[in-house]
Parts: sequence; structure tokens; C-alpha cells
Amino acid sequence: TFQLGLLGHPVAHSQSPRIHAAFAKQFGISLNYQLIDTTAANLPADFKQWIKTAHGCNVTLPHKSNIMPLLDHYTERAHLTQAVNTVYWQADELWGDNTDGDGLVLDLINKHVTMRGACILIIGAGGATQGIIPALIDQGVMRIDIKNRDAKKAENLALQFEKCHALKSNGQQAYDLIIHATSMGHQGHCPELEKHWFHDNTIAYDLSYGDAAAPFLSATKVHGAKQVFDGLGMLYGQAALAFNIWFGKKPEVNIP
Ligand code: ATR
Repeated sequence: TFQLGLLGHPVAHSQSPRIHAAFAKQFGISLNYQLIDTTAANLPADFKQWIKTAHGCNVTLPHKSNIMPLLDHYTERAHLTQAVNTVYWQADELWGDNTDGDGLVLDLINKHVTMRGACILIIGAGGATQGIIPALIDQGVMRIDIKNRDAKKAENLALQFEKCHALKSNGQQAYDLIIHATSMGHQGHCPELEKHWFHDNTIAYDLSYGDAAAPFLSATKVHGAKQVFDGLGMLYGQAALAFNIWFGKKPEVNIP
């Protein structure tokens, strides 16, 4: 039986145990996926003790950056996003990877959303935004505009990545894909949206899922978006890519 787990705070309502159990079943792998609720202060001790006997783990908020100094190596995409959501052992050393961005890309591909040449608006400039930008750039997008309440944060992020621009005073253009990456949905709120951001085929995607995605997705529908998606597919996508890192097997993703 392989020991795996999720470190975060809170983690109680995580869907990851169920998702990984379903993946493991596809290959007859026996695993025990634990939820480990730990604060930033306790993370170093809890992680070091637990990981010794584990096959690997996932990391979620608020520890995706906190975990980095506790690892021996990072992959390039973990370095670029300054975040780790997947930890694995290689030759007795701990590696950190980040499958969030490619999990989103996997989901967008499954949903037949074209990224090559696309003009994308991302609302929000926190860790969630940084986590997806490199993967979108890899897909050959044309341009990524970043809109944030704190404009300086959008500018700093845009400076780090090619094709990215901070959106000043709401811009003038329409987008093929609008991604919501703030935490406002968890309070039942949604950022203000501009009519001119939408064209006939604008697609809306919220990185949150369930109730937290509802305010943004209903507001984008009012603006005429015909296709709106929450981030459940991204959750499954990042999990499938983590599973592949741990076991070298690509699970079939069946989103409920
Ligand atoms: P995460 O790692 O999930 O991205 P974060 O780094 O705390 O979390 O970033 C949260 C994002 O939500 C930020 O873009 C934040 O905007 P600021 O940079 O201006 O703080 C955005 N956000 C949170 N609450 C918001 C609100 N009430 N209105 C507008 N933006 C909000």
C-alpha cells in the first residue's frame, strides 16, 4: 500500500482522496491517501516526519510556497510558478513539481478550448495566476492580460513572463478566454466585468469550483458567454498529472 496525502490548511473537504482512489482502482494500485491539516508553523516538522514513510504528497493552500525550502529540488515549472503542489521521491531526494497549470491545460484541451493564438484575460494576480501562466504560454497563446485590484501586483507578474501585460483602466479589447483567479468567489462575490471584454465566442473559466465559481460564471453568462466552466476539471487534471508522476501511469479522467 502506497502512502500519499495532502498537506494544507484547511483540507477537510478535499476531493483529492476520492479522486486518487478512483485513479488507483484503474490500475489495481493500493493506496492510502491521507488528509494532513497543518499550519505554517507546524509544516516543517509535520512534513519531514510524515514524508519519510510516504510515496509522495500533494500540497495545497496556504503551503504551496512554504513547502519549497523543505525540498531538495524543484522542476522548472515549479520554479517558474514559485509553487509546488506535488512532491515525490527520486533517488532518495525530494522533488517538488507543480501540475496546476498543466492540469488546467489538460482540462481546456478536453473541453476543446483553443489556446494557440488565443487572447486571454486573467482576473487576479495571486499565486493561482502565477501557477497557470507558464502552462498557457507553452500552449502558444497570443497574449495574456492580467487585471487585478492591486495593479502593482499585476504589473510585477507581467514583468516576469513573456506575452503578459497588466491591464490598465480595463483596456479596450475582447478576449477569447476570461479566467477568474481571485479568491472573491469564496465570499460569494465576483469582480466587475466590462462589456467590451466579451465577443460572440468568449469562454469563461473559474479556477474555483462549485459554489465559489457560481458568481463569476453567472455574471459572464449575463455578458453573453455561451460556454462557462468551473475549475473541477482542472482539479482532476492536476491530480491525474500528479498520479502520473508518482506511478508512471496516466489515469482516465472521468469528471462527475
Ligand atoms: P491565490 O494564491 O489563491 O491566488 P492570493 O495570492 O491571496 O491567493 O491572491 C488572491 C487574489 O484575489 C488577488 O489577486 C487579490 O487581489 P489583490 O492582489 O488586489 O489583493 C484577489 N482578491 C481577493 N479579494 C478580492 C476582492 N474583494 N476584490 C478584488 N480582488 C480580490
